[in-house]
Amino acid sequence: MSTRRILVTSALPYANGPLHLGHVIEAVQTDIWCRFQRMRGNDCIYVCAEDCHGTPIMIRARQDGIEPEALIRASALEHQRDYAGFAIAFDHFHSTHSEENRHYSYELYEALKKRGVITRRSVRQLYDEQAGMFLPDRFVRGTCPRCGTPDQYGDSCEKCGATYSPADLKDAVSTVTGTTPVLRDSDHLFFKLGEFEGDLREWLASHGLQPAVRAKLDEWFEAGLKDWDISRDAPYFGFEIPDAPGKYFYVWFDAPVGYIGSFAALAAKRGLDFDAYWKAGATTELHHFIGKDISYFHTLFWPAVLHGAGYRRPTGVHVHGFLTVEGQKMSKSRGTNITARQYLDLLPADHLRYYFAAKLGIGLDDIDLNLEDFAARVNSDVVGKLVNIASRCAPFIEKAGGSLGAQLPDPALYAQFTAAAGPIAALIEARDYASAMREIMLLADRANQYVDQQKPWVMAKDPARFVEAGAVATQAINLFRVLMTYLSPVLPGIAARAAEWLGTDAFARWDGVQTPLLARPLGKYPQLASRVDPAVVKQLVATPPVAATASPDSPNPGKPVISIDDFTRLDLRAAKVLEATRVEGSDKLLQLRLDLGSEQRNVFSGISASYRPEDLVGRYVVMIANLAPRKMRFGVSEGMVLCASGGKDGGTDGVFLLSADAGVTPGMRIS
Ligand code: MSP
Ligand code: ZN
Repeated sequence: MSTRRILVTSALPYANGPLHLGHVIEAVQTDIWCRFQRMRGNDCIYVCAEDCHGTPIMIRARQDGIEPEALIRASALEHQRDYAGFAIAFDHFHSTHSEENRHYSYELYEALKKRGVITRRSVRQLYDEQAGMFLPDRFVRGTCPRCGTPDQYGDSCEKCGATYSPADLKDAVSTVTGTTPVLRDSDHLFFKLGEFEGDLREWLASHGLQPAVRAKLDEWFEAGLKDWDISRDAPYFGFEIPDAPGKYFYVWFDAPVGYIGSFAALAAKRGLDFDAYWKAGATTELHHFIGKDISYFHTLFWPAVLHGAGYRRPTGVHVHGFLTVEGQKMSKSRGTNITARQYLDLLPADHLRYYFAAKLGIGLDDIDLNLEDFAARVNSDVVGKLVNIASRCAPFIEKAGGSLGAQLPDPALYAQFTAAAGPIAALIEARDYASAMREIMLLADRANQYVDQQKPWVMAKDPARFVEAGAVATQAINLFRVLMTYLSPVLPGIAARAAEWLGTDAFARWDGVQTPLLARPLGKYPQLASRVDPAVVKQLVATPPVAATASPDSPNPGKPVISIDDFTRLDLRAAKVLEATRVEGSDKLLQLRLDLGSEQRNVFSGISASYRPEDLVGRYVVMIANLAPRKMRFGVSEGMVLCASGGKDGGTDGVFLLSADAGVTPGMRIS
């Protein structure tokens, strides 16, 4: 088989929140496929990036009192750390707020304009006069025009399912300022999607999309392809459109271009041929892995934009369903919105990778993480079946001299295992991981049966039969090695530990299993995986018990509440930062001189991981003015500034100042 050149992506996570297990299942699905391709000898590149633009990110940065650039930098670092925790092997992780992305966004836009598929017309939209901005649908709430339910989003009603335009919402309120928005007209730029209907139909017919995805596309064609609004008015965090000052590309225009931008950055580093991957006529493969909520963007707009601009279209768009937890949509209030970090702090990545693989089929159905099932499945399959083969046989090799035997006692059984290489590869290639895991576990049962029948532990009681026991172990460990090869894209951590024992080449290539490992001295047998404690698994969704006085909706259910008197004892004040300097000898603290109107204060604050001192001067912060002065190693701190912390308890990365709104003066009381 000739080497395929394959470029693979997962959807780019938004920069305004931590990764949760929904992001993780997608990355795991993609990563398994890429690792598998590489083991097959294909040239497979996996890129991703931080999705940085759009109103929610701009607003979130404002709320945190930081520049969007600081938010996206911190978020990209956190995301990459979490992906790494799950052993997601990107070739490159980039950012949509990058020069590469700007370059290609402009290039595609110019090409589309030249082709005459960009048009301009006026749009009437809700406008927040106080914030000075147009409001995306999600930033307006009001009463449903159909059923009268209050507090619904600007585009649809959760109660009756009606969809409408925000202008039809009754008693509309901007969630940015709480004021009543007005209607205002503005020119927008549109991509004429309808012009590409023929091309899209032809592309869809020749690409093996999942039946459910095809069905959805047929519905969309049926409804008619409408022009797509690709511009947004300032203020917007994104790329300004070159020939339309004050207008920016809508985040969904430049986000998929982020795939190109990320590849381009990697190509520059590695000297790859850009055109061979991206220009029309490319013979390389391009595969996008996405969730079902964003298939419209990837199966309609994106191929049309690429085609219109003279670029190649995707070879495959692979759509997965949504992860639910204990049968429920992930939800913060129910405690089921499990973040990647929460999981990694409790349990090994491979365990969840296996569980996801065992549940990922080719359909778009939702995938449930059931905690009891998770613990049972991992303990039974990974520990009880797979690792068991190795752990029960390793001692007999040691007794027989520390090396695998020179031949297999049961070559026919071994051949049964290697004969599965083709069928299992076909399943993984087709992303039917669930079926692949089933096949592999049936073989694992078979291997354990072999050991049960041979009873090497009986042989090992008699020194004269050590060699015989070693031969059985040689057979079993070779069967383990075959299965571990098939599983190594799923279980990279366990595979790496097993490779220290069996040799670094043991699982490197899919077809390596054709040659058994014989007469090879083994390393020390490592602990490959340990059982999952169901009590630990439960902690993933554990929320502290709710105290009688604290509302279950409060952000901290279960924490003792304080009285209003306690609260009024705090003297909270707006203070202006006059000076900010790093503190020699501390990598956490900044020293601030704060103007309280009537006086100035010296305050030390542990925010240097999140802020550069020069960015703080002139800004307003909220401080506790009546805190008893505290002597520190570096001087006396005369108060404390208030921060929001996104990081882990006590950590000082991901700490953000609460900045006072415009309009305050030094010393103004905050309550
Ligand atoms: N930024 C866009 C994608 C741009 S791609 C050019 C976006 N970001 S996201 O952070 O909201 O979602 C990233 C991916 O995670 C999407 O593919 C989305 O479908 C997936 N998931 C988000 N929540 C999910 C679950 N609960 N379950 C499975 N996947 C989910 O959309
Ligand atoms: Zn309604």
